[in-house]
Amino acid sequence: MNVSDTEIIWSILKKTGYQKTDTMTEADVILLVTCAIRDAAEQKIWHKLVHLKHYKKWRSLRSDKPPLKVGLLGCMAERLKHKLLETDKIVDVVAGPDSYKDLPRLLSLTEDNQTAINVILSYDETYADVTPVRINQDSVTAFVSIMRGCDNMCTYCIVPFTRGRERSRPIASILDEVSHLSDQGVKEVTLLGQNVNSYRDLSESKFATADKSDPKLAAGFKTVYKPKVGGLRFSDLLDKVSQINPEMRIRFTSPHPKDFPDEVLQLIAERPNICRNIHLPAQSGNSTVLERMRRGYTREAYISLVEHIREIIPDISLSSDFICGFCGETEEEFADTISLMQMVKYNMAYLFAYSMREKTTAHRRHEDNVDPKVKQDRLRRMITIYRTEVQKLNEAMIGRQYLVLVEKKSRKSEFNMQGRTSGNIKVIFPRGSIQDNRCTTKSRNIEAGDYVVVQIINANSQVLKGIPLYHSSITQYALSTGNHYERMAYNL
Ligand code: 5AD
Ligand code: SF4
Repeated sequence: MNVSDTEIIWSILKKTGYQKTDTMTEADVILLVTCAIRDAAEQKIWHKLVHLKHYKKWRSLRSDKPPLKVGLLGCMAERLKHKLLETDKIVDVVAGPDSYKDLPRLLSLTEDNQTAINVILSYDETYADVTPVRINQDSVTAFVSIMRGCDNMCTYCIVPFTRGRERSRPIASILDEVSHLSDQGVKEVTLLGQNVNSYRDLSESKFATADKSDPKLAAGFKTVYKPKVGGLRFSDLLDKVSQINPEMRIRFTSPHPKDFPDEVLQLIAERPNICRNIHLPAQSGNSTVLERMRRGYTREAYISLVEHIREIIPDISLSSDFICGFCGETEEEFADTISLMQMVKYNMAYLFAYSMREKTTAHRRHEDNVDPKVKQDRLRRMITIYRTEVQKLNEAMIGRQYLVLVEKKSRKSEFNMQGRTSGNIKVIFPRGSIQDNRCTTKSRNIEAGDYVVVQIINANSQVLKGIPLYHSSITQYALSTGNHYERMAYNL
């Protein structure tokens, strides 16, 4: 999300005449795009600010340079507001996630040695009219933000307070951006939002009657806010985005387990360019903890959803987020998280120790009473279980072939390339020239942005290793492996 926001910020500043530099000593303005989700994220920024304080002082002694300006942007700005200007006088500009269009004005105020702040949250700002400028222009993958904010109010989470109310970006501007990225040669787009399956584009009146039915939540799921009615839904967006270029992969993150529509699952099953990976944040495997977290589902409902997803898309890879040590979490409750991880078997998991955030319901109603040492011990246990399970999943892929989107040279060896399967699993394989397609003797080099069929020969818990066999495309590969959607299109 912050990478995506940085691209919006950079677009706004570029238009006003600012230039970007990768060398800190060349910069007259340094902006930090911050996160507030856990205390550790904020601590990183405090350390950076101490460093910048010394640097600012050192630079002020040099008469040939204008005074350095430091801006603190994003969720930490929204959370701490004026306090940031009061502390140590390092920060000149404070801008919350909805005030990036005001940055040129805020920065100009600092020219008279003033400080400037805008932390007003908006009901409708989606930056739909800002075309983000990609930070890494050569990358074959890109992020596209489809909505902002969150209305879910999970009791542990600061996001609804720092990013404000949920609002969806109009579909037309999303489609424009994705088409533009496709024209630039981008091969994979990730649609971003805090809760993508509650996406609703209510902006176009001609679509406003598309679906007036009250969305029904499956048994075992409930929501704290009234689901939006009418307009275009996430499945409509996914349908349209995936038709822009059948050779462009589409991913999305994050859906919320509480309202997972079948239409989305059907689309993933049918469209070979919608990636076979779903991020399904569980947070805990225990129903009482889930209730305290106000997640809107029970362990049983979550497991039923996983089974349902696997019925419709048997080769789906699943990822998740888990928090250990939430207020009052007992050893038995934590054991349910471990057992859920063992039962579901995730291809990827983001694991966190609970960090109490002010303003949240948990801060008001519950006590952060799990000993920090116990939290860390539980975190270690989650990591061990996750690694053991994912190693087994990855080893089971040895000997099989996968269509891999080549992303770049491997970081560890210039003789290797790295890419990802549709299930979002990293694959490393040697560079070089391979067959142009399955039925030819002609060969060509493997480049970033190519689709290559790779045979897996080795695996650990983090990465697969393979041998590249031949170049292919999403469409060709789906035809050769008998993907249902492709067969239907072919018969027509
Ligand atoms: N402490 C620890 N982890 C948290 N997350 C959100 N809030 C907290 C918190 N207070 C985690 C959740 C969420 C992910 C983005 O961050 O797992 O899904
Ligand atoms: Fe936070 Fe819950 Fe919203 Fe995710 S869904 S951003 S965890 S409040």
